[in-house]
Amino acid sequence: MATVIHSVALLAAVLTLAYLGFLVYGAWQRQARLAQLHQGEREMLRARLDLIATPVAKIASEKAQAAWSGFRKFRVEGKVLEAESCCSFYLAPHDGRPLPAYLPGQYLTFRLQIPGQPREVTRCYSLSDSPDHSDYYRVTIKRIPPPGNAPDAPPGLVSSHFHDRLQVGDIVDVKAPSGHFHLDVNSRTPVVLVGGGIGVTPALSMLNYLIAAPGKREVWFFYGVRNGREHILKDYLREIAAGHDHVHIVACYSDPLPGEQADEDYNFGERVSVDLFKRVLEVNNFDFYICGPPPMMESLTKGLSEWGVPDERIHFEAFGPASVKKVAKAEPAQAGAAGAVDVSFVRAGKTVPWTSATGSLLELAEAHGIRIDSGCRAGSCGTCMTAIRDGQVDYPSGKPDFDIEKGSCLACVAVPKGALSLDA
Ligand SMILES: Cc1cc2nc3c(=O)[nH]c(=O)nc-3n(C[C@H](O)[C@H](O)[C@H](O)COP(=O)(O)OP(=O)(O)OC[C@H]3O[C@@H](n4cnc5c(N)ncnc54)[C@H](O)[C@@H]3O)c2cc1C
Ligand code: FES
Repeated sequence: MATVIHSVALLAAVLTLAYLGFLVYGAWQRQARLAQLHQGEREMLRARLDLIATPVAKIASEKAQAAWSGFRKFRVEGKVLEAESCCSFYLAPHDGRPLPAYLPGQYLTFRLQIPGQPREVTRCYSLSDSPDHSDYYRVTIKRIPPPGNAPDAPPGLVSSHFHDRLQVGDIVDVKAPSGHFHLDVNSRTPVVLVGGGIGVTPALSMLNYLIAAPGKREVWFFYGVRNGREHILKDYLREIAAGHDHVHIVACYSDPLPGEQADEDYNFGERVSVDLFKRVLEVNNFDFYICGPPPMMESLTKGLSEWGVPDERIHFEAFGPASVKKVAKAEPAQAGAAGAVDVSFVRAGKTVPWTSATGSLLELAEAHGIRIDSGCRAGSCGTCMTAIRDGQVDYPSGKPDFDIEKGSCLACVAVPKGALSLDA
């Protein structure tokens, strides 16, 4: 009997031990599985972060290695006529050192000595190719004719200089790429790139970047021109659309020439509009990047907001002063009770009234014969930077691209916040 009891006790002990062992083993296995899972998740997360961080990290480190301050000499390596009055310039660094990558959408600032001009002239031109070329930059420049209402005025100074005088082998002074209007290269959100006329240049840079980037991010490229005379890189864009199923090119002609056929030469015989986006895209969950003439920018930014696209998904750039005024999202600074504030130009010894109808401080100065040098007139080049003696300014179109020195303002895009005194 005692043996039986002993055997049963032994069996119970063995079974208990086995059960405990099973529990411990199960817990260990679960821990191991969890650890494995966490390890897997950690690796996935790390891989994802690496993937996300790569373009910007690469661009940032390349910038640190190869960016330059001030102006650097570039040689014109190629000059290619893209359309009737549009020319691409391929620029290679004269010192032969590699070029920093840039963010697609950024621009170069040029300083030129133009025969007959009393001083150097500054202008900005967007980089029109992808940043993947460390041996050249490309800009694409439209020749600017006199305005319709002043046909006897001289044509655009710098654009004419590029078209008529600059030849292969010539040297130009160029500042490193800059600008806040650029593609978010870390995002995977589908994008709509919009270029109106010569405003297509930053969109081209973004497009060329995206077709070379991994991940097949969905791209819609809307290009608005009057007709085939202005349509640059037509065959190239067609080839891209044919070779990449995630890229869609939509060419819009507002005034097709006789003989130009819809579906053959262009896709839509109308202007680029939000109504067209609604018909073609149907949904609005894209990041929109827009650059074009003022009326187009004004109607698209307003229409997209009304369509429910959040502000942070609407990115735009103005090529000139008119656009800056029109697309200003914020109201100008509050004027005094009489609707005007006094602005003193100390060196000129003049105090003049400013109202919200006046425009920028640069326009105010010019209207009163006070000289402030200017270049881009869009807050991009820094030529108009003026020291503030007293008071504050506002930037109705948002923070300018150019990094402003403390205590100064960019007169071409600034308005006074109240009584203001400038060192001009
Ligand atoms: C960030 C940025 C990026 C840009 N990217 C590009 C780009 O990629 N490609 C591009 O082509 N442009 C681009 N631009 C525009 C470019 O910088 C110039 O503004 C453009 O080339 C015109 O410069 P211009 O010297 O030829 O004309 P301006 O000499 O500045 O003349 C402008 C207009 O004024 C008229 N005018 C001149 N004198 C008078 C007068 N006395 N009375 C009446 N009218 C007069 C001219 O006929 C012309 O129509 C960009 C601008 C910015 C700010
Ligand atoms: S003129 Fe270029 S920043 Fe004002």
